[in-house]
Amino acid sequence: MRQAYLSRIITYYNGELRDFKNHYLVVENGRIVGLTNKEQENFVDYSNYIILPGFVDAHTHLAQIDARAKWCPDLIEWLERYIFPAEMRFKDEKYARDAAKRFFKELAKNGTTTAAVFSSPFKNATDIAFQEASKMGLRVIIGQVMMDMNVPEELKISVEKAERDTRELAEKWHGYNDMLYYAVTPRFAVSCSMKLMKTLANIAKEKNLYIQTHISEQEREIEEVLKLNPKFKNYAQVYKHAGLLGPKTILAHGVHLNNEELKIIKEEDASIAHCPSSNFFLHSGIMSMDSMKRYGLQIGFGSDIAAGPYFSMLEVARDASYSNPISPEEAFYYTTLGGAKSLGFDKITGSLEPNKSADFVVLSLENFDDLDTRELLSSLIYLGDDRNIVATYVKGKEVYKKEKI
Ligand code: GUN
Ligand code: ZN
Repeated sequence: MRQAYLSRIITYYNGELRDFKNHYLVVENGRIVGLTNKEQENFVDYSNYIILPGFVDAHTHLAQIDARAKWCPDLIEWLERYIFPAEMRFKDEKYARDAAKRFFKELAKNGTTTAAVFSSPFKNATDIAFQEASKMGLRVIIGQVMMDMNVPEELKISVEKAERDTRELAEKWHGYNDMLYYAVTPRFAVSCSMKLMKTLANIAKEKNLYIQTHISEQEREIEEVLKLNPKFKNYAQVYKHAGLLGPKTILAHGVHLNNEELKIIKEEDASIAHCPSSNFFLHSGIMSMDSMKRYGLQIGFGSDIAAGPYFSMLEVARDASYSNPISPEEAFYYTTLGGAKSLGFDKITGSLEPNKSADFVVLSLENFDDLDTRELLSSLIYLGDDRNIVATYVKGKEVYKKEKI
């Protein structure tokens, strides 16, 4: 089925930012055929709106949807007081399904078409998360959160069960419909033994899975990690030793990484998920995008629900441009193509170019005809949120439509 969408279309294209006014985005069987100003027969008229590539959230937590905005400036205390009890609820499959439905609906409603997601510590709840992501039609990487120490008993898993659960979930879901992927997900080095981390790293290598974890978010966390792993000089070395660093690894935060660690991460070709809203909320510090760029690291933006209060990647991009002096064009890059690249999806999504998946978002903005490209992106980043999202498409399929536009 061929379908065109008439709009103002802004996207990275052949490596450059382009602003196609009055163009048709032509889609066939879920793929982009091209962008053209030649009149098309069968088209949806979005000429009063703007089309952008679907947004990419490189780090978020499904199991924390109901634990947002719980103030506490210490990460470990916040986890213990609010997050572990919130994740405990996912033992209940009815709640797990309801929460997963709401979570993926929020992603679609906010224009996020691709995401890397931490589930809860439970296999069944993680299976349910995959089912609901699939029903919603989003492109997602999901992983069961694994922990075997320093957390309440009910959230702990043995290394043997962690291996069994991982194999089962990965066999069922990794690569499903080219839309769903599995990530081994050791929470962080405070709650994972070296044995658990090594075991998960080995399965990831064997089955070519993603790896997602947290690194160097707060100082007390770093001290704890080095106390638990006294043979190592820094946090990155702990993960390197475990085998957790590689081209399919997504490391959330990295606020306090030193140059030696940045070098290790570059050598291992792992990506950083920068989560500015979360870093502000938990007072974790300001991550320097300049140092990351100096070392040539892949960067994506993450909402990091629930430490980050917002689902909207426009709001996350806003916080990113408050924490680091990046231009609207650059913020837009990390929200779309850069984010896709950080997850290894840049050949498939992140920009509106021929042969890519038709993953796009339709936005409203008052009087945008008068704005040049930079002004338009700046307005969306500094003023935008879910209220600007009119419709969201993944693989050419509408996954969200605002009721009254
Ligand atoms: N570090 C370990 N677990 C978490 C989490 O759930 N959220 C955040 N922000 N940091 C973490
Ligand atoms: Zn996180």
